[in-house]
Amino acid sequence: MSADLVARARAAMRNAHAPYSEFHVGAAIEAADGTIHVGCNVESASYGLTICAERMALGAAVAAGATALRRVVVTTDVDPPAAPCGACRQLLAEFGLDLEVIAVGPGSERRWTLRQLLPDAFTRETLDR
Ligand code: THU
Repeated sequence: MSADLVARARAAMRNAHAPYSEFHVGAAIEAADGTIHVGCNVESASYGLTICAERMALGAAVAAGATALRRVVVTTDVDPPAAPCGACRQLLAEFGLDLEVIAVGPGSERRWTLRQLLPDAFTRETLDR
């Protein structure tokens, strides 16, 4: 597995702005063209404005013009490693359910496809009529 992706996610995780939860998350997305786009969680004193690491990384990928996505690594300090929240799963689904999702904690990792994490997904096909 790509040590590089994990290293990039962990580096982003060190920049997490999480003074309220103190739960630091990093994410690194590998696009089909090999580029890597990272994010960390950013919390707000107005708690509900918090943005997750995965959605930050996704925004960075899209802003860089990368929308064909291969893998996302999510790093946290917990074992078993934390899986992406529902909101992040839904936004990632925008770019395909074949995405490989790898959660990495200090001592273990877990892997899924986004399709496994988001069964019966609501997608653009749902809107076809
Ligand atoms: N968080 C993420 O960054 N990604 C997730 O998928 C779940 C939760 C962040 C949001 C908040 O800053 C902290 O973790 C605790 O919920």
